[in-house]
Order: sequence, then structure tokens, then C-alpha cells
Amino acid sequence: MAPDPLTPYGNRPMVTPIVNAVNYEYLSFEVLRQITDGEIDGYTYHRDDNPTVREVERKIAGLEGAEDCIVCTTGMAACTMVYLTYLKAGDHLIIFHDTYGANYKVALILERLGVSITWLSADESDRLGEHVRPNTRMIFLETPSNPLCKILDIRSARKAADTVGALLVVDNTFATPYHQTPLRLGADLVIHSATKALGGHNDLMAGAIAGSMEHYNQLWFTRQAIGTTLDAYSAFLLERGLKTFELRAEAMARGAQIVAEFLAEQPKVSRLAYPGLASCPGHTVAASQMQCGFGGMLAFDVGEEEEDAKRFIAALKTIYHAVSLGATESLICIPYLTTMLYLPPELRTSFGVRKNTVRLSIGIEPPEKLVADLKQALACVPQRVLSHA
Ligand SMILES: Cc1ncc(COP(=O)(O)O)c(C=O)c1O
Repeated sequence: MAPDPLTPYGNRPMVTPIVNAVNYEYLSFEVLRQITDGEIDGYTYHRDDNPTVREVERKIAGLEGAEDCIVCTTGMAACTMVYLTYLKAGDHLIIFHDTYGANYKVALILERLGVSITWLSADESDRLGEHVRPNTRMIFLETPSNPLCKILDIRSARKAADTVGALLVVDNTFATPYHQTPLRLGADLVIHSATKALGGHNDLMAGAIAGSMEHYNQLWFTRQAIGTTLDAYSAFLLERGLKTFELRAEAMARGAQIVAEFLAEQPKVSRLAYPGLASCPGHTVAASQMQCGFGGMLAFDVGEEEEDAKRFIAALKTIYHAVSLGATESLICIPYLTTMLYLPPELRTSFGVRKNTVRLSIGIEPPEKLVADLKQALACVPQRVLSHA
């Protein structure tokens, strides 16, 4: 047999090779049979599986304490694969308003397919049990939530789900597995937009779903059927990003805590939400389910009006005005003008987002540089007497 071109001397490359092949030559019908019967971990066609993707799946599973993980093209592909795999006509889904806006659009599709949906506010999560029905098949939540960083109690959501045997799905994108591992708190599945902190460099899109082996097999069925398999190059970039993930997560959380403490003292800032602040309503629950800090995401109101928030953002020099989050660079946006556009206009400010609310994702820059930038930009916001706390 010809030597393996990747390991001609039996030594192994330090990085997972990018296998860009669509298809694979079968060495024999016996090998084909073993692959298709699942006896060996072989590869046949990219939509089914890919070795570069498989390697990154194992690494994310390790981070989440999962038996396995399915990686796919985007975070929204991951959410959609979960809905399509586990929900059918007649089922009931409970989801929180405080989840990433594109879920609204997917929800419209699910309703067309016969799934009924209850939207709850994170503020009423302690009454989750009252909304559970005999046909509730799934509870879907984010904590901290996007964009207002509200905290939901994963353990109590588990209890509510158990009353009817529903699946508990947690989007862990904001927290990251460095700070929170929902499977250990009772979730059945964990979702990531790996586009964010797992990748970490604004250069790839990917989604991930971690859970048991049984869930892996069910989700693999969906991915193979609908073709949401990640390309090998993005998988390679994601694996490269993961090498520094813990370092970046640690730096982001440290920076966010310092920035939050600075912002808490600023008269032109109100409704500051960062779970690491004792003054934040979700702090106690966050402290009980997060570890090693509270992540890199903050939300707050600037001044009184949309114009104040715009002026503030326009004056920033170090922090970038851009959507997305979890990157090496700090990123800021006005959700009302960006991520909330997925929602119908009447809902965009219905659960706490205001026109002058900003969402800040802390990067890995020195925190004092970020504080100085925020300070000079706040000086550009006109001083008014704030009418709300
Ligand atoms: C919490 C959360 N979940 C899911 C998504 C969707 O991820 P993607 O943009 O990779 O589809 C996002 C995107 O911002 C997000 O913030």
C-alpha cells in the first residue's frame, strides 16, 4: 500500500489537515460496508462528514462536557437543525423573547409547519412552569441573553421541562463554555454560534450543538439530510481559534468586569447589565451557574435618546462599531438598529431594548485602553438630567 501522504513516516502534523475533498475513494467494498454500517469512522461524501470538521467537533464536545458535538454552517443553522430534529406539527415550543432575533424568523417557519409557540420574557422565567403544556416538547433559552444580558436559571428550567418530559436547549453563545456548561446544569443540548467566541477572530461562520451520543446521531441525520455541513477550511479556522479560546475568554471576562465597574459610575450610563455586577438582577443566579467570571458581554443605555447612543458610538476610537461578538476586538452596536431588525417593528422595544441601548462585546485589548476610549466617547454625549434609573 502507498504511504499515507499526510504521515509518510508515521509522524503526525501538529495541525489538523484541511481535507477539502467532496468524496473519498473506497479501497474495497468491504471498507464501504464498514463505513456505511458505522463500524469504522470512515468518510464517503462531504455532506455526510469530514475529518477536519470531525476533529473540531470532538474539541467542542470536550469543552462542553458532552459525549459528542455536531458542527454546522452557522449558529442559526444549529438552532434550526435542533428545531427540525425534535419538533413536529402539534408540538409546543417555549422560547424567550430574549434570544437572538433571527429565531423570530425561524419561529414563523415553525408555525407554518404546525408548531405552536409561547414567547416569554426572561423577566417572567420564574413562572415558566405555568406555561408548560402536556404537548410542550422543547424549552429554548439563552443565558446571558442577547442583547440585554438577562440571566435565566438553567436548573429551574430543567425542573419545568421535566414535568412534561420536554427537551431543554440552551444557547450558550454569550456565556461560552469557559464560563458556563449548561449540560452539567441539566440542559439536554447546548447550542453555539461558533462564529463568536469559539472562532473568535471575525473570520468564519459556524454553529455547534453538543449533547449525548443519541442526540449526536439524531442531529447527524438532519445535517446529512439538509446539507448544513461546515466546510473544511472554516473547521480548520475554528480549531485554530479554539487553541486560544480559554485565554481569550479569560481576558474578555476580566476586561468586561473592569469596564462594567467603570460604566456603573458614569452618570450618562443607565440600566447597565453585566452579570458580574452585584447590582445586576441576575447576579446571584449567574454566580450559581457561571464560573471563572461572567463573560464579555454588557448592555447599557447611553444618555436619553437614540442620538446620544449614536454620538457615543461615533466617538469611539478603539472599540469598533460592528455587529457580532466574542471577537479579539471589542465590538459595539445599537441592537434597535441592528439585531432587533429581525423582529416586527412593534416588538423591537417591547421587552426592554430601547433606542439608546447599546450592546458591547469586550475583546482582548488592555482594559485600561477600553476604559479610556469609553470615557472620551461619553464626554461627547450631551449632559442631560436622566429621567429613568
Ligand atoms: C446568541 C446567538 N445565537 C445565535 C446566533 C446566530 O449565529 P450565526 O450568526 O452564526 O448564525 C447569534 C448571532 O449573533 C447569537 O448572538
